[in-house]
Amino acid sequence: MDIEIDSLAVLGAGSMGHGIAEVAAMAGYDVVLRDVEDDLVQDGYDQIEWSLDKLAEKGQLDADPEDVLGRVSTAVELEAAVADADLVIEAAPEDLDLKQSVFAEVDEAAPDDAIIATNTSSLRIGDIAAATDRPERCCGMHFFNPPVKMDLVEVVGGEATADDVVDAAYEFVESLDKTPIRVRKDVPQFVVNNVLTPYMGEAGFMLDEGADDVRAVDAAMVFRRGYPMGPFELNDFGGLDVFAHTREQWDDPVPESISSRVEAGDVGRKAGAGFYEYEDGPGADYE
Ligand code: 3HC
Repeated sequence: MDIEIDSLAVLGAGSMGHGIAEVAAMAGYDVVLRDVEDDLVQDGYDQIEWSLDKLAEKGQLDADPEDVLGRVSTAVELEAAVADADLVIEAAPEDLDLKQSVFAEVDEAAPDDAIIATNTSSLRIGDIAAATDRPERCCGMHFFNPPVKMDLVEVVGGEATADDVVDAAYEFVESLDKTPIRVRKDVPQFVVNNVLTPYMGEAGFMLDEGADDVRAVDAAMVFRRGYPMGPFELNDFGGLDVFAHTREQWDDPVPESISSRVEAGDVGRKAGAGFYEYEDGPGADYE
C-alpha cells in the first residue's frame, strides 16, 4: 500500500527550513514550522511572507499569498509540532549530534508510521537514523538554497531505509513541483555537494596562491560558462562558515582565503561581507 503524506512538520526555521515550509504550503500542504525559540520561528515565518509577496509581485505565484501563508502554522514545542505529522523534515544546523538528538525526540513524539526526513547536505542518513528505533522510516530529502527557486531535491535512503519510504519521499518531492533525483548510495554530501564543495574549495585555493582574483573567476564562470553564480558569490550566498564547517567535518582542508574571513566574521551575505560587500547588510534584500 502506498504511503500517504498529508500533514507536515518542518523542524528549523532558518533559510532551508522556512524555504521548505514555504514550498510545501505553496503546493497545498498544511505545514507546522518549528524552531527552538519564538524569535527564530517568527523570523522564518516573516521571511516566508516576504518571499511570497515578492513572488506574487512578479507574477510567479499562482495563488493568493495570504492563502498560502494561512497554511503555515508555527510552534516551539517539538511534541506539538510533530504529533499529527505524516512527514517530519528536519532542517537543523549541520551537526551530527544535534541532528541525532532531534531525530531521537521526533521518534518519541511523532506517530509510529511517520517518515522522518533530514535535509542534511553532508552527513550520512544511516548515521542520523541510528538515533531512532525506526531507521527504516528515515530518509534524506536534500533541498537547495533557496528552496523556493531551486528545482532539484536529492532523495536518499540509508542502508536500513525501506524502499516504500524512499518511493514516498520521491513522490512527495514531485508533488511539490520539484525534480527529485534518487541518490544511489548514502555517501556524505550525496551527489551535488560532492561536486560543488571541491569546486568552491579549488576557487579558494587559487585565490590563496594568488592565481587570480575573485571577480575575474566569478565573471568567467557566469558570463563565459553560464553558471547562475560564480564560486565566490555562491559561497557568500550559502555562508563561508557553513562551507568551512562541512570541510572540517570530513577533514578536508579549508583555503586560507575562506578560514580567515570566517575568523573575521565575514561569513558572506548574511553578515554583510564575505568575498563581496553587501551594502544592504544582514539579510540582504529581505526586509
Ligand atoms: N523568494 C522570493 N524571491 C527571492 C528569493 C526567495 N527566497 N530569493 C531571492 N529572491 C529574489 C531576489 O530578491 C531578486 O529579486 P529582485 O529581482 O526584485 O531584486 C530575485 O529573486 C533574483 O532573481 P533573479 O532573476 O536575479 O535571479 P533568478 O531568480 O534567476 O535566480 C537564484 C536566483 C535561483 C538564487 C540564482 O542566482 C541561482 O540559481 N543561484 C545559485 C544558487 C545555488 O546554486 N544554490 C545551491 C547552493 S548549494 C546548496 O544549497 C546545498 C546546501 O546543502 C549547502
